[in-house]
Amino acid sequence: MDINKIYVIGVGQMGSGIAQVAAQSGFEVTMYDQTEAIVKKGYDRVAGNLEKLVAKGKLEKAAADETVKRIKTSVALGDAKDADLVIEAIYENPAAKKAIYAELIKVIKPETILASNTSSISITELAASTDRPDRFIGMHFFNPVPVMKLLEIITGYLTSDATLTVAKAIGEKMGKVGVAALDKPGFIVNRILIPMLNEAILLLEEGVASAEDIDKATVNGCGHPMGPLHLTDLVGLDVTLAIMEVLHREFGDSKYRPSPLLKKMVAAGKLGCKTKEGFFKY
Ligand code: 3HC
Repeated sequence: MDINKIYVIGVGQMGSGIAQVAAQSGFEVTMYDQTEAIVKKGYDRVAGNLEKLVAKGKLEKAAADETVKRIKTSVALGDAKDADLVIEAIYENPAAKKAIYAELIKVIKPETILASNTSSISITELAASTDRPDRFIGMHFFNPVPVMKLLEIITGYLTSDATLTVAKAIGEKMGKVGVAALDKPGFIVNRILIPMLNEAILLLEEGVASAEDIDKATVNGCGHPMGPLHLTDLVGLDVTLAIMEVLHREFGDSKYRPSPLLKKMVAAGKLGCKTKEGFFKY
């Protein structure tokens, strides 16, 4: 199946990153969100990122202009009617995701593939809420999407081999390193990474070391590009908590218990970079 038009739902950091990379890779992209103001913010973020690449000499001005021309915006899901692929990248809430799919399947073509960028929700469960579980797949990108090379491709119980083949080809065209994973909580990276971030928060909570020193430790002791607390701020404390809660609930293992400090900070609205404050100030 030829994929030309990609409809991206949600223009937060992940959705806009996906839209940018897709447009830079030659796909016709539509960025959807609930209001004109939100969509504009996402679109401006992409345009700004492209400008920065041009200023750094990493992208030709003409290529940036062509990329921008390939991006449309939308505030009505009906605009997805001619999409070949829909990538949903909204917040981690199964009910909200399913509500969007329920609207989408009324308008999209029968052959359109539906992908979710979910970081932890079961692909099988999301797929089952649609009319096309064989054409439903997880395409999990990493933050910041234009920089991180990985694409986890997650097959649900009923995802067809043909859909997997198409998703792998799209990832390749986007210049990503694709890895396939089965539909188990956390897939590959988040099952490893998020408990590590949670453990760093527990260290802080126990007073073992300061936030600065916890981060200094893994940067200088393990060669990580950024420390776990800074990374939690980048990922979002709310997203980190949501993933820990899924791991805890689905595996029923106390080792995945979310840190009480993480819960408290999310309740207080300290969500990291996006709210300008988490473990550090931005
Ligand atoms: N968008 C686009 N480009 C960005 C960017 C963004 N949001 N953030 C940084 N960059 C670019 C910079 O422009 C710079 O480009 P250049 O080399 O061409 O000048 C390059 O990335 C390096 O950035 P900086 O020099 O500002 O800073 P660093 O060298 O510290 O790199 C980083 C920043 C790439 C974020 C690096 O610290 C890193 O790799 N951190 C780890 C990120 C990570 O682990 N991500 C995965 C999170 S888990 C996830 O996403 C899954 C989800 O489900 C939770």
